[in-house]
Amino acid sequence: MPLEEPIQNLKEDHTEKEVMINIEGLHKSFGSNHVLNGFNMKLHRGENLVIMGKSGSGKSVMIKCLVGLIQPDSGRVEVMGRKITSLNQQSLDELRADIGFLFQGSALYDSMTVRENLEFPLRRHKNKLGVITDTTPLVLEALENVGLPHTIDLMPEELSGGMKRRVAIARTLILKPKIILYDEPTSGLDPITAKEIIELMRNIQRKYGTSSLIITHDVDCARVISERMILLVDGINYAEGTYAELSASADPKVQAFFKK
Ligand SMILES: Nc1ncnc2c1ncn2[C@@H]1O[C@H](COP(=O)(O)OP(=O)(O)O)[C@@H](O)[C@H]1O
Ligand SMILES: [Mg+2]
Repeated sequence: MPLEEPIQNLKEDHTEKEVMINIEGLHKSFGSNHVLNGFNMKLHRGENLVIMGKSGSGKSVMIKCLVGLIQPDSGRVEVMGRKITSLNQQSLDELRADIGFLFQGSALYDSMTVRENLEFPLRRHKNKLGVITDTTPLVLEALENVGLPHTIDLMPEELSGGMKRRVAIARTLILKPKIILYDEPTSGLDPITAKEIIELMRNIQRKYGTSSLIITHDVDCARVISERMILLVDGINYAEGTYAELSASADPKVQAFFKK
């Protein structure tokens, strides 16, 4: 099926399903820079939710609050029913093992092979999968999921930009997360490679039924992958709806997102 056509049967209404992430009234300022001013968001089980906001609008800050990398000033941040701000380090680490986080830029460790890059989360979260005597099957499975099993012994510098992004996605998949947070997954890639990454994200969602939060600037990515979208403007969820609903909106601030 061509990527140009959003897969309708992949798109469903999840809003009656279990809430995987719940954010209410999130505030975060850095000095006089009021970044988030009462942001609300719910991610439901199995859903692909896209967040769009212009550069510097606080998308990465929001996602970092979700995994406890940034402490919010106020507001409720719950992941799978657990309040992030009241977890101790051990509980936070356990929860993070269920959350795949594709960081913006998704850098690999340059001095490590692909295999070592993928083993990193296995070592870090060794309690999740029990005692692993041989990591090779897990590493290979994750690489096969992104179509790159033959890269296992390569160094990052031997990979193209698109391959690096795939390996970074494999690294987030290796712990079989329930939720994946993608921070600008297609940024810096040429349009064809970006489409391949979007296709990959869709395949992962279909195969594992993960709940995904996708932060993107890329209108094509949003159109193809989103079941629901939130537009982040002035630190709040300014508008919410499907791609079709939002792209048809007469509101100038909403329209601005869809102009090419
Ligand atoms: N650790 C930090 N300290 C101070 N300011 C920060 C920090 N992280 C982000 N900011 C500021 O917060 C704002 C939002 O940043 P960010 O969430 O990265 O934007 P984006 O929507 O592009 O991801 C920016 O003005 C940025 O400079
Ligand atoms: Mg960002």
